[in-house]
Formats: sequence, C-alpha cells, structure tokens
Amino acid sequence: MSKITYHGHSCFSIEENGKTVLIDPFFTGNPSAGKIPEKIKPEIILVTHGHGDHLGDAVEISRKTSSPILAVFELANYCSSKGANALPAHMGGKIKFEWGWVKLVPAHHSSSTNEGLYAGNPVGFVIKLYNTVYYHAGDTALFGDMALIGKPEQIDVAMIPIGGHFTMDIEDAVEAVKLLKPKAVIPMHYNTFDLIKADADEFKNRIIKEAECKCILLEPKNQYELQ
Ligand code: NI
Ligand code: MN
Repeated sequence: MSKITYHGHSCFSIEENGKTVLIDPFFTGNPSAGKIPEKIKPEIILVTHGHGDHLGDAVEISRKTSSPILAVFELANYCSSKGANALPAHMGGKIKFEWGWVKLVPAHHSSSTNEGLYAGNPVGFVIKLYNTVYYHAGDTALFGDMALIGKPEQIDVAMIPIGGHFTMDIEDAVEAVKLLKPKAVIPMHYNTFDLIKADADEFKNRIIKEAECKCILLEPKNQYELQ
C-alpha cells in the first residue's frame, strides 16, 4: 500500500514496501513542518529547483543519510559542492531504480540558490514507486504541455501548487488538473506565507464540479493511504 505524507508547503514523502521518496525537503524555516524527521532515510531526495523553500534541508539530509539528491545538472553539482551525494539528470530523463523510476519534466518558473547562483532549469517530477504513479509539479505556471505529462501512464496522485503569486492560483490549477487527468490531486504551496494564501475548499469544490478527479486535502503532518 502506498502512503503519502504532507510536511507542508511543497514537501512530501511517499512510501511503499519500506522505500521512501522525499520531495522538496523544506523543514527548517517552514512554519508548518517543524524539524527534519529523525528517522528519515529516503531512497532518493528529489529537488524541483534551487529556491530555499524547495531545496530546503536536502543537502543536510543527504550528508547525514548519504541518500542521493536527484536534480537537474547545475543544482545537483551545487549540492555536490556542499558535500551532498547528488545524481545529476535533466528534463526528459527517466532515471530507473530497483523500485521504479523518476522522470524530470518541465516547469515554468526560475531556479537559483539562496546565494544567488544559477541552478539550471526548474522541473517537476513524475515518479513511479512500484505500481503507483505520482506527479509533483514543483513551482510552475499553467502550461498546455501538461496534457503530455499524464499520457504515457495515468497519474494516480498529482501534487500541484494553488497559492498563486509565485505559481499557479486556484483557477489555473483547476485547468492544470483538466490537462493532467490524474485520479487524485493534492494541492500544495499555499498558506505557508501570507502572499500565497488560498482557500483549499474552494479548489476542492471546483475539482469536484469540473474534473473527474478526487481531491485530497492534507493538513501538514497528515498522511493519506492509497487503496
Ligand atoms: Ni520557487
Ligand atoms: Mn516555492
């Protein structure tokens, strides 16, 4: 059974058969996440882009656990330079593991580190963990090619931003769901800060009315088990 844990903002861990994939591990400084979970030992840490609210504690977790960080070339090299174990890849790449694969897909945003260094292109990730397909959009605007992301294999759970200002807002996120056609959607990147306040219930109501898709609202630190 697949289990998904929301740590607030855009940080999730997904688990199956004792394997954990950690995405955008923003714990320190994230008002809804708290501390880095003590026991976390991910198979892989996925980082969508270099902004502090996504790269987060990735380097520290990788240094502590030697779990590799999978990111685009420039960001992976930056993480290596800070002592992390990093695996560079790029958009279009489908990286295979014993438990499944991770594909890097486009995101329309920017990417630099807190030090102002160029961190390559921002990305989203399609993740197949055993038999479950996840999509984490990262930070992005709406774009028509989202229709291609769910085509090769239907997405079981899509994690998409709804907070606006730096990413899609609710209106665009509803359109994104119509293009992605996932079985379920979880909104993210909202309410962490005042600038990205959004009403998740409004998003959920629109999804129920306008898309053939389940909407799962997760409070930070809550888990959801997929049947
Ligand atoms: Ni960003
Ligand atoms: Mn962000």
